[in-house]
Amino acid sequence: MLQDRFGRTIDYLRVSVTDRCDLRCSYCLPARFTQFEEPSHWLTFAEIERVVAAFVRLGVQRVRLTGGEPLLRRNLPALAAQLKALGLRDLSLSTNATQLAKYAQSLKAAGVNRINVSLDTLDRQCMQDITGRDALAQVMAGLAAARAAELSPIKLNMVAMKGVNEAEIEAMADFALSNGYILRLIEAMPLGDTGRNAQFLELGAVRERLVERYQLVPQALELGGGPARYWQTPDGSAQIGFITPRSQHFCATCNRVRLTVDGTLYLCLGQESTVELRPLLRSGISDTELDAVIIAAIELKPERHEFNEQPTKLIRFMSQTGG
Ligand code: 5AD
Ligand code: SF4
Repeated sequence: MLQDRFGRTIDYLRVSVTDRCDLRCSYCLPARFTQFEEPSHWLTFAEIERVVAAFVRLGVQRVRLTGGEPLLRRNLPALAAQLKALGLRDLSLSTNATQLAKYAQSLKAAGVNRINVSLDTLDRQCMQDITGRDALAQVMAGLAAARAAELSPIKLNMVAMKGVNEAEIEAMADFALSNGYILRLIEAMPLGDTGRNAQFLELGAVRERLVERYQLVPQALELGGGPARYWQTPDGSAQIGFITPRSQHFCATCNRVRLTVDGTLYLCLGQESTVELRPLLRSGISDTELDAVIIAAIELKPERHEFNEQPTKLIRFMSQTGG
């Protein structure tokens, strides 16, 4: 088992397969951003498989594929199948769902068991304002395909922003509850100027509103082992999650590290601590040496992010590190 200096067990790896995206969510990527990673720097599927295999040897059994938009990476289901075959217990995907109608079945067949879909609004114009594209119909088709393919659970990630989509939180919660999706409300994090400028909405008051509307009770059991705190309906049939990196940080139970498309291992979403794996992979490092590099990297994992103390610190965008 991988353990860091603060006694945290690292049993979850997030793998970004591209930093590109077909949307430009206002809190994530600048509208005219072009500084994407060179294709020659992208880890190949074989290289990604080698790194994930090392993590599996070190006790990690849960992997999430992310981006950018992961479905823009050609043949993603083939990579999913390669990784699943390493013996993963849980293989999940974060997607904006614009391409999901096309890929839901093959992802499921490849061994992806559950997905998170980024969806901030059910209003076509609001969606266009946030993402820069008129993509709501495509996303809805993607969600329906995911449900038909029995990817489960399906979580909806909504970045809640003051004066942008705040008024639509109840509509999203109704939609999620009536379709069997798990809504998760997220506070915007100050990653890059985009994230910093996102209209920060503290979720405490929102939670009180929703608790009253649906008679929610706090859920004792963790769902997914991540940072979300879940509340459920009285009969236990539906959950709503709250991810509050700004108002209540949850670093003490952090269980994850991130691999970016260029082979950089990020030990924390909110800090600069990284280890470059690509040069090692491309200069013939052995499996034993790779394991040792990862064990040493985990030692560098910072205790916590400093989103509130140093909100201007990070110049990278979420799509570059992996959401
Ligand atoms: N703060 C919080 N969440 C963000 N995402 C992207 N940028 C930010 C940010 N600055 C989320 C998206 C999506 C995932 C890829 O990351 O909503 O769910
Ligand atoms: Fe793309 Fe996700 Fe960033 Fe939106 S939040 S621009 S969908 S990577």
